[in-house]
Amino acid sequence: MSEQFHPSNEEYTVELTKAPSLGLLARLAKAIHTFRSLPQRIYNTFLLFKHRELKKPASKNVCPMRYLNPFLYLHYSTKIAAKSAVIKAILKYPRKDPEGGLFNDQDNAMVFLPVLQDLYPEETITPEDFIFTCNKESLRKYRQPILRFIGPQSIEKQSKELQAVIEDTIQFYCKEKQEISIDATEFSFVLAVAVMSRLLLGHPGPFQAYREIASAVDLVNRYMMKKTLKQPLSKEEKEGYKESLLTLRSAIDTSFRSQGPFSSESFVETLREEKLLTPLQVKMSLYAMYSAGSDTSSSLLNYLLWQLGKHPEFQEEIFNEMSASKEDLFTYANQSEAIGRIISESLRLFTPAYVIGRISPQPLICTIKDKSGNILCQERIEKNEKLLSMPTFAARDPFLFQNPDEFHPHRFSNPSKGYSWFPFGDGAHSCPGQWLAKAEIAMITAILIRRYRFDSSPKQEFQQLGYISLKSSEQVQLKLFPRTMAQNAVR
Ligand code: HEM
Repeated sequence: MSEQFHPSNEEYTVELTKAPSLGLLARLAKAIHTFRSLPQRIYNTFLLFKHRELKKPASKNVCPMRYLNPFLYLHYSTKIAAKSAVIKAILKYPRKDPEGGLFNDQDNAMVFLPVLQDLYPEETITPEDFIFTCNKESLRKYRQPILRFIGPQSIEKQSKELQAVIEDTIQFYCKEKQEISIDATEFSFVLAVAVMSRLLLGHPGPFQAYREIASAVDLVNRYMMKKTLKQPLSKEEKEGYKESLLTLRSAIDTSFRSQGPFSSESFVETLREEKLLTPLQVKMSLYAMYSAGSDTSSSLLNYLLWQLGKHPEFQEEIFNEMSASKEDLFTYANQSEAIGRIISESLRLFTPAYVIGRISPQPLICTIKDKSGNILCQERIEKNEKLLSMPTFAARDPFLFQNPDEFHPHRFSNPSKGYSWFPFGDGAHSCPGQWLAKAEIAMITAILIRRYRFDSSPKQEFQQLGYISLKSSEQVQLKLFPRTMAQNAVR
């Protein structure tokens, strides 16, 4: 693809269209190109294994200024989109609609279906049973109830329960004493699972159960990723996986059967009562909530707490803004500019959904045009070639962000600067849990800062490992120091 114009200039349009098959000569030229690029690809794969993380090999090999980058993995047929306009063009279409759209999801099926089959070995599970692999029609049946409960119009209705869950989690981890140490990585995961369980899934706890579910989701996700990448798995990992499946199965059953005041208006009861989905599909969507929703939210919270612990000045900024606010906690936290900046900057540097993939069952052409409609360049995407959108790289584009590797929340002081790199996806499958994730993280940040000053470790930046969502290579620890009563009583 031509690089003769400035590719970070967003004033261009991107179109994906179906393409004819290649003729014999073109196929030969392509084979020669593939052969010549082999050493680079082997080196890229070596880097990936050597660093075991995405940031370093990516920064060496993925150029955020290019529209489509050949992937750093050895697998030849993969291209990465790092520019937001290209990401938007890819994500516009349903993940699985080869007739009406462009793509047909197989990749997600390869990762998730074996786990679902292990989870319910007595059932026959098809791709249609699971939200990440089903067709447009089934998907609508899952998405609508999710949005009805935690979409932009309804999330405020959940504010009381959300605050109660957060308070309970803090209570569980932070016993009142002068100096409190917590494992922020575990805390973040348990909070995300508790929120998901109590707001959506009708699982009444106790907290120890949320802790076990969090550990099970984490273990299964890590296992699943290693298996997909064909990495060796130890005997302990295999046994841990089996035990975790039992924990998840029991958690899903508890949710599925939940009744009474706790679940009277719950998401799970709505799914069950509406009967648009089969019981198996309901269970699959409960699993998807745990797997997709809590893993991502907890990764982001973990990173955000680590950064805030390193930057007491931003804690004070939030504390002062909160002290001056007359709003209730939910409204303050969700409208706070100081908290919004911290969430945006954390998402920019640590994008939990670091890769979003699509596969087309036919060849495609990606056409880039300037404002006047002149074709600037065209790139062919082969049948079954993986097309990956990488928000992580778009978020570190040096043409969009000065000193892109630095944590600098005030770069978001200008309210017009939103998430231009789509950390929650875009188009047909944009994340239906994003309002919950943001509300949950904004509120826990406000509540912690209202009560404590805190410090975080490790002091040095850790690696960012690519599992189902991005993970820190080390556990984050927090030391919390209670503010005095007078300071605490800001509201
Ligand atoms: C920081 C937290 C989160 C991030 C970064 C995130 C990111 C994403 C992204 C990028 C997608 C699009 C995937 C694609 O296009 O293939 C997605 C989809 C999805 N997310 Fe989230 N998510 C987060 C939290 C949540 C939460 C809390 C929930 C559940 C309540 C959730 C449930 C889902 C579901 C069900 C989908 C699939 C939607 C579909 O296929 O139509 N996510 N998420």
